[in-house]
Amino acid sequence: MDPSPLDLPAGFRFGVSTSAYQIEGAVGEDGRGASIWDTFSRTPGRIADGSSGDVACDHYHRHLDDIGLLSGLGVGAYRFSVAWPRVQPAGSGPVNPAGLAFYDRLVDLLLDRGIDPVVTLFHWDLPQALQDRGGWHARDTAARFAEYADLTAARLGDRVALWITLNEPVVHLTYGHALGVHAPGEARLFDALPVAHHQLLGHGLAVAALRARSSAPVAITNNYSPVRLAGATDPDRAAGQAFDAVQNRLFTDPVLGRGYPAALPVDLTALRYGDQPLVRDGDLATIAAPIDVLGVNYYNPTGVRAPAEADAPLPFDLVPLDGYPRTAFDWPVAPDGLHELLTGLRERHGADLPPIEITESGCAWDDVLDADGRCHDPERIDYLEGHLRAVRAAIDDGVDVRGYFVWSLLDNWEWAEGFGKRFGLVHVDFDTQVRTPKSSYAWYRDLIARQGSTRSAGPPA
Ligand code: FCB
Repeated sequence: MDPSPLDLPAGFRFGVSTSAYQIEGAVGEDGRGASIWDTFSRTPGRIADGSSGDVACDHYHRHLDDIGLLSGLGVGAYRFSVAWPRVQPAGSGPVNPAGLAFYDRLVDLLLDRGIDPVVTLFHWDLPQALQDRGGWHARDTAARFAEYADLTAARLGDRVALWITLNEPVVHLTYGHALGVHAPGEARLFDALPVAHHQLLGHGLAVAALRARSSAPVAITNNYSPVRLAGATDPDRAAGQAFDAVQNRLFTDPVLGRGYPAALPVDLTALRYGDQPLVRDGDLATIAAPIDVLGVNYYNPTGVRAPAEADAPLPFDLVPLDGYPRTAFDWPVAPDGLHELLTGLRERHGADLPPIEITESGCAWDDVLDADGRCHDPERIDYLEGHLRAVRAAIDDGVDVRGYFVWSLLDNWEWAEGFGKRFGLVHVDFDTQVRTPKSSYAWYRDLIARQGSTRSAGPPA
């Protein structure tokens, strides 16, 4: 470990992230509607341990305790998501006042403690009623999303510090609609691509809706994974480019005004949607509405090589990477990948690249309480320190990175893995809901105290 002090610029924003379905529980309370994750998690065989987010961290009832944990950390910002089905149970039509009131109170409680509320509008929990009408395959879902953004901003827009429209649309596309390992569980491979376009259209329409209601800056967050080629042939290089186009550029290029990447295995502009083109006149301009911040989630690089089979369904094979430490998720620990992706974004987009916030970074380990009831997670401290140093190096190389949000505040319900993967700075006993701050919590708290956390609303809109 580098012995020099970890030194981020003055005003750098330290935060933590969570998402609604992973922590809230209370899925049947106070008028919340069903989401695709309720349906998916109750389908036998979908979740590794057979669990669901019905209770999760019971945050809906314990949010005061959790805000206490945030206060204790001294973070300047907290990124959470609003559950669309809590606010608008059917995804269209009437608002649920109790749902909006929950987030309204949460925002006030955060502000009272000097913590900036950073609000993600869609972290994958689509109202089931919209899924029943085609979900993100349906162009109408983009318009419904903008309406939900409007009504949420009408209530919270005077106090939110940063809006994030979508969380990781690439993961929602690939895991949820192409491979079928996340809700809604569809395995359509490249036939899922309309879901990409409609999420992007929803983002663009939501940016306009948010601007009309709120002066807070607006962002979109995606997941990025630099390619590590596991072969040196021309087909390997072609496979690397295809994976890179889907994973790293499919969403970012159109948002930053470059249209869909030519290296995509399928040309979206040639696709049809009913009797019309999928990408209609004006769509790309809507999608390229200026944003103030680019949200970057980073966990690991990906090993890629040419498909082993000539008739493989995908134009790339993903392979494990040798030579890295691996987390409990078996993800390689590679802080240099974060530096590479940040400088790569800067090279690719130049002056079109807005300031960046690292909206998720973290790792899962098999954390247990020791006999004294403490939880030691030195691997997480190493991981976070290494990744913050990578951010610092990228800043030194001219990338405008404004903040870093650890995934996650709490051990929580990790999607298809159920309760099997612990990402928290705080250990949660899922039988008793007892929260125990880990040693990484103390480390992050001390780091923030040393660096001075600044409460800022990000760059001006
Ligand atoms: C990201 C998700 C987040 C969490 C982490 C581990 O892809 O945005 O909800 O599951 O991975």
